[in-house]
Amino acid sequence: MSIRDMRLTYAAGSLLEPDMSPDPWVQFAQWFEAAKSAEAPEWFEANAMTLSTADTLGRVSSRIVLLKEFLPHGSGLGTLTFYTNYHSTKGLQIESNPQVSLCFHWGHLQRQLRIEGTAVKSDRAKSEDYFSSRPLESQIGACASAQSTIVASREELEQQMERWQELAQTSKLTCPDNWGGYDVTPRSFEFWQGRPGRLHDRLQYTWKESGWRLRRLSP
Ligand SMILES: Cc1cc2nc3c(=O)[nH]c(=O)nc-3n(C[C@H](O)[C@H](O)[C@H](O)COP(=O)(O)O)c2cc1C
Repeated sequence: MSIRDMRLTYAAGSLLEPDMSPDPWVQFAQWFEAAKSAEAPEWFEANAMTLSTADTLGRVSSRIVLLKEFLPHGSGLGTLTFYTNYHSTKGLQIESNPQVSLCFHWGHLQRQLRIEGTAVKSDRAKSEDYFSSRPLESQIGACASAQSTIVASREELEQQMERWQELAQTSKLTCPDNWGGYDVTPRSFEFWQGRPGRLHDRLQYTWKESGWRLRRLSP
């Protein structure tokens, strides 16, 4: 089949205003739960999301990261957290421009969820707590990898890994200073449900002064 003929018909559901909670955090929690619990292939990770960042010249880059926590803080505000290396490309871009977007594709439910907001580093104690909860292999990986920098070879990377593995046998690894969480505070959420004939449902919440406003967008 040629690429131009590749397409699916989306008919799994609909999204109508009366179905939506006035609070996008409640709606998010419902959709996340549905994405997690619906039947999906084994490789599927409901918490995988595309994170887009941009430098100060507006050059955008995107990659997948894993959502590790979401926490409504009350009064409409809340945060979504992912963990990374603060010196990576994304980390450096966020430091110079904290505006980010997150995008989930829950294809098994024919759903997409877009979030735009501002990222700030998580509390040190929160990052340290999460770091120590990770499997030892992941802790070693975070210590050994200067994420997004050029390495001479795979061997060099494996040697660094071995050095940290040896160190981990005699001492407890601590969270590197340049590794931790980012908390994203959304200013908009867009819930997308595929519909037949490309007449998809798109409902967008935007933060307006002190509350969320819900509007329908044309597909
Ligand atoms: C399924 C999946 C999950 C990932 N989760 C993370 C993550 O939680 N944190 C992270 O730093 N990188 C994660 N990565 C790797 C990133 O996509 C990316 O390669 C890396 O963070 C370097 O990005 P950067 O150079 O733009 O900073 C994941 C990749 C995939 C495919």
